[in-house]
Amino acid sequence: MSNQPAAIRRADYNAPSHFVDTVDLRFELNDDGTIVSSRLQCRASDGEPGADLLLDGNELKLLEISVDGQPLPAARYTVDDQSLRIRDLPAQFELEIRTEIHPQRNTALEGLYKSGGMYCTQCEAEGFRRITYFPDRPDVMAVYTTTIVADPNSYPVLLSNGNRVDAGHLDDGRHWVRWHDPFPKPSYLFALVAGDLACHQDRFVTASGRDVLLQIFVEHHNTGKTDHAMAALKSAMAWDERTHGLEYDLDRYMIVAVDDFNMGAMENKGLNVFNTVCVLADPETSTDRDFETVEAVIAHEYFHNWTGNRVTCRDWFQLSLKEGLTVFREHQFCADQGSAEVKRIGEVRTLRAAQFPEDAGPLAHPVRPDSYIDISNFYTATVYNKGSEVIRMYHSLLGAEGYYRGMQLYFKRHDGQAVTCDDFLAAMADANDRDLTQFSRWYSQAGTPVLEVQDDYDATAQRYTLTVRQSCPATPGQAEKLPFHLPLVMGLLDQGGRSMALHLADSAASDAPLERLLEITSHEQQFVFEQVSERPVPSLLRGFSAPVRLRYDYTDQQLALLAAHDADGFTRWEAGQQLATKLMLAALGRAEPPAHVANEHLLSALDGVLRRASEDPAFAAEALTLPSEAYIADQLAEVDVEAIHRVREACIRDIIAELGSDLETIYRENRGTDQAMDGASMGRRALACTALGLLARGDDVEDLLRDHYRNAANMTDRLCALGLLAHTDNDAAAAALADFHDRWRNDDLVVNKWFQVQAMSLREDTPELIAQLMEHPDFSLTNPNRVRSLIGAFAQGNPLRFHRPDGAGYRLLADTVLQLNAINPQVAARMLLPLTRWQRQIPSAREGMRRELERIGNAHKLSKDVFEVVSKGLQ
Ligand code: ARG
Ligand code: ZN
Repeated sequence: MSNQPAAIRRADYNAPSHFVDTVDLRFELNDDGTIVSSRLQCRASDGEPGADLLLDGNELKLLEISVDGQPLPAARYTVDDQSLRIRDLPAQFELEIRTEIHPQRNTALEGLYKSGGMYCTQCEAEGFRRITYFPDRPDVMAVYTTTIVADPNSYPVLLSNGNRVDAGHLDDGRHWVRWHDPFPKPSYLFALVAGDLACHQDRFVTASGRDVLLQIFVEHHNTGKTDHAMAALKSAMAWDERTHGLEYDLDRYMIVAVDDFNMGAMENKGLNVFNTVCVLADPETSTDRDFETVEAVIAHEYFHNWTGNRVTCRDWFQLSLKEGLTVFREHQFCADQGSAEVKRIGEVRTLRAAQFPEDAGPLAHPVRPDSYIDISNFYTATVYNKGSEVIRMYHSLLGAEGYYRGMQLYFKRHDGQAVTCDDFLAAMADANDRDLTQFSRWYSQAGTPVLEVQDDYDATAQRYTLTVRQSCPATPGQAEKLPFHLPLVMGLLDQGGRSMALHLADSAASDAPLERLLEITSHEQQFVFEQVSERPVPSLLRGFSAPVRLRYDYTDQQLALLAAHDADGFTRWEAGQQLATKLMLAALGRAEPPAHVANEHLLSALDGVLRRASEDPAFAAEALTLPSEAYIADQLAEVDVEAIHRVREACIRDIIAELGSDLETIYRENRGTDQAMDGASMGRRALACTALGLLARGDDVEDLLRDHYRNAANMTDRLCALGLLAHTDNDAAAAALADFHDRWRNDDLVVNKWFQVQAMSLREDTPELIAQLMEHPDFSLTNPNRVRSLIGAFAQGNPLRFHRPDGAGYRLLADTVLQLNAINPQVAARMLLPLTRWQRQIPSAREGMRRELERIGNAHKLSKDVFEVVSKGLQ
């Protein structure tokens, strides 16, 4: 690989040479190019004249530059394709720059670009430098005034951050609007939108009486699908006031939905820009899961106003400062909206599916990375989801009250500043008078820690001893790890499943709670419990109190007991999952595939779930879902995806043989034919669909699936049936797929689902079908949602066919990545990730994956984004 882009290192951080106090921007949006005029009030940070000013700039045409009103002589500046350097500057000056950019041609979707008929921006992390020359780093915070000039017919709505302060018409017929944002902000929070948009409007009065105008803008064909987002926004605003005392701070909160977007959404000050996937919801076209996503992402972006915008990041290594924290706040909010246990199970599933494999692979990095080539590659499950688990651990270790004290101090100290993860930790420590030095290793050490627990019961002394050992596997650049500080929440069950009082050896006799938080800090620790009248079953890591892999040698009976009786919902679910995992791993370990995978303990645990299903259908749905093939793969030193698939299918067949008729009963009792969107209805739908999903792996189910598809009254049911039908190559499947496309050919988000179910199909010829679907008139490589629905879903969600032994899946992915590299590097790099997980595959798969990675690595003109993933992935 030639021309290697350089890594940026955290250790090399330097404070900015100059501050920018105000930014005045003027955009002229013309069909043949956009003219951006910027006027910056700058001053040297040391107050002295003479320091060079280095501005970032990418894909810009510099038209004019002047300092303090005088055109700048060529001798005083240098421009290249990344930057503009200005010399001999006074201590304080006004800098004016005019540039030309081409949003129409911008398929990278960073900076200013066109999505459909509208203009929009994405500036995080480094998009602003594609708009104008600027110190594009988060520790330079300025007050922005933005004027947008455009044709009023095509672009009647012109938006930017803050408050609308002025508007008018030009003699040539164009109109203009001026916006002013009084809060100093980094350039990554700048936003602009121009288009012909419909607006759903509402109001929210804050606790202190500020009347806030809430507006959600969508393209006209999407009107009527924003009620759910608006309700979510209002409940998020009320929640942050109630739980954190945090209020909104501008007179207006705007959200714009765009079709072409690299990520989920963006928290630009006062003007969020959202992927349509994360705003639009309607029972006819959105699944229950989509409704949950909208609620979560609306809340997430709203919460960023305090954790991200009011207090922002000093540099991009600190990304988790705002993302980990905001994901945790989002999780707390979502837990308060419905069943906290079921939400927690979902969070752990996501962490295990996305973050554990990342932490175990070649792209493993700490929550606060030490270096990057392209920061876009670090919007990862580690920074977001493990980062959120780190915040959850502060909450557990300090207690809810201590945590909120820490948050208060954090805002008191740092409102209006760009700070670091160390600053956050210091606020938590100082507010609670705690030493969190060891806890800070969660920010610096990558890898998923392993907790090995052993126990000993002394019947004579009635003493029970838990020995906890921790270790952490090596990760790139980090061979040795120091012990972490983590909360292990636990309880003990007697043989009847009742919680036992926990008399810790050196605590007061009266202090005997039913649950304890053990603080783990060393390589090895012992916890001694007294007055333990019988050998207990330990219930460990309740609520998934730390992001670790827990190892304790449970018997099947013990797991069944925990699954039936534990006081903690997460642990009940987890025990069932571990039992199933244990049996599947045992079957995989045998030379001859066994006739049966499930045993009486698993079957009776599942039978118990079915019998109690009506108490909490949503929980039952989780408990009936077997660990995924990816999760099983993650437990193995060598992964044979076909073998895993066979064993998991065999386990399901055992379940059907034993519990098939009960599953059918549950299915019939819970399937609905309505569009009710309350939690109870959604829970019953989840249960019915899970039961159907199990039954579908048996024989003679075509009619059942066809009926479910035909009778579906909402997208959850319809998509569930379609997905199950699409695994087979028969007329029923073809008819349903055709019907589905016919009905919703004009709804982009539903067409995404149509692509996705086909990408996830277990059909052997799925790679060929995908290649065909890429030629379908509805497919496009320039729309990230389409790419994710077809290519992303296939490579990440269909291990069996992605790893087809002839390597067709790998070739398809590599071909697509090479095309995307020239269109949208961020999306290309992200799609490529599954190919980097070759280390634990069986040798033939490993070779096929490496071959394709090398082919990409040898291609010309690789983007920084793709280069970084390929080169690390090959190591
Ligand atoms: N800050 C956004 C969030 O809420 C993510 C934006 C990242 N965008 C990007 N192109 N890297 O999580
Ligand atoms: Zn975020």
